[in-house]
Amino acid sequence: MNKFMKLRTYLITGSTLLIFLSSANAQNKTSIGDANRGEKQSAMCAGCHGSYGYKTTFPEVYRVPQIAGQNASALANALEAYKTGQRKHPSMRGIAESLTKQDINDLSAYYERIGQ
Ligand code: HEC
Repeated sequence: MNKFMKLRTYLITGSTLLIFLSSANAQNKTSIGDANRGEKQSAMCAGCHGSYGYKTTFPEVYRVPQIAGQNASALANALEAYKTGQRKHPSMRGIAESLTKQDINDLSAYYERIGQ
């Protein structure tokens, strides 16, 4: 093997490793959905859950739970449960019914990310 071929082998191995590492990293960031898309949709949740998904005092008649930082799959399961009526909160059911599976995953990814 001459010098040139050795160099080429190193380069190929190196770039394969880089691609592998960066795709692993990207997967971590996106969680179960697209957090950037979820952020745009979160405007309709902020009125009750707060701009950053933290617990709010509004409305004082009932407690609004903190959703920021909860595990994305747990959030998605909760939203699915409101959507199907397994969880019976009228305002959350109304909201969840309007969300697609993709919306649920993206919003869940977003709220998981902002809690970190
Ligand atoms: C009208 C006020 C209101 C809006 C708007 C609203 N929520 Fe909620 N949310 C609540 C309340 C109140 C609860 C607690 C309901 C219960 O006791 O089951 C809740 C519960 C939840 C839960 C379950 C949390 C847990 O710890 O069990 C999730 C997840 C959630 N909301 C996500 C969202 C998302 C995502 C949006 C926007 C698409 C949204 N909510 C919009 C009031 C609201």
